[in-house]
Amino acid sequence: MILLSQAPEPLPDDGDDIVASTRAAAAAGWEVIPIPVDLDRRDPAEALASIPARAGATPAIWVGTIPSFATYEATYRALADRGIRLVNDPEAHRTIFELDRAYPHLVGLTPRSVVVRSPDEVDGALAALGLPVFLKGALLSRKSFGWEACVARTQEDARVRVAALLRREYFSRGRVILRELVPLRAHRVPALDFPIGREFRVFLLDGEIAGFGYYWPYVSELAALTPEEEASLLDLARRAAARLPARLVSLDIGALEDGTWTVIESGDPQFSGLSFIAPGPLWRRLAAILGRE
Ligand SMILES: Nc1ncnc2c1ncn2[C@@H]1O[C@H](COP(=O)(O)OP(=O)(O)O)[C@@H](O)[C@H]1O
Ligand SMILES: [Mg+2]
Repeated sequence: MILLSQAPEPLPDDGDDIVASTRAAAAAGWEVIPIPVDLDRRDPAEALASIPARAGATPAIWVGTIPSFATYEATYRALADRGIRLVNDPEAHRTIFELDRAYPHLVGLTPRSVVVRSPDEVDGALAALGLPVFLKGALLSRKSFGWEACVARTQEDARVRVAALLRREYFSRGRVILRELVPLRAHRVPALDFPIGREFRVFLLDGEIAGFGYYWPYVSELAALTPEEEASLLDLARRAAARLPARLVSLDIGALEDGTWTVIESGDPQFSGLSFIAPGPLWRRLAAILGRE
């Protein structure tokens, strides 16, 4: 099993989630192959040419920063040419990573959503959804700008926010998702302009739970789960993963005020933060699941 890591070299003692995962994977027996951080600005085939080719198709996971789709595709091909097969092929990666592609698979398990490509399409979307709505790009929301940047209470609000998201290609890739604003169980953290929910991140490989943890990087009394709550949370994660056409999937799942769970979004664990997922057990578990291939 191979880990393609965009962590700095030599690996620092302390660092971000990419460093933590790289350390944990190495300790769990993964072969770690460092790859450049600036793949988006280079030709991946050239940048990866020094990786020795091997026979067969060794399964691999990439851990790093979000690449453009073109970079993911080119990297996937360059690695395949060397006998290294990323577990998520480009189409799988893109489907779980871009919410408008994942949404058709997740209907009923996630808030109702409508995709728009221009502010002119907002009125039609609101006719289907009503107000208020939550808004995000196909990839990312503007949550770092605060809660109000993600919510529209009027048509004009919605048009302005759609335009703002479309201006950020990195967030939207040309598409904005308007979503029913659901009542998540949440509380306010004084230093943060965003309600902190009872949300969990779950990583699954081939339908099996590889790790999960509280989503928000704050200690919160909302993070504690009874065994029954944990079972229902993981059950929803498994059902959502079973609908998605990718082997390695991340699911963010939040509790509604009535105690039921909803899928907030899917993602590709190769480029998702760990939240409170413990890296050691995660990389041992991923190796065990892949080892059964
Ligand atoms: N439909 C929604 N209704 C209410 N709150 C939401 C909704 N979607 C997301 N949120 C809240 O906003 C946060 C950020 O949304 P998310 O879609 O995960 O954006 P990002 O891709 O930037 O993480 C979520 O973690 C959740 O707390
Ligand atoms: Mg999110």
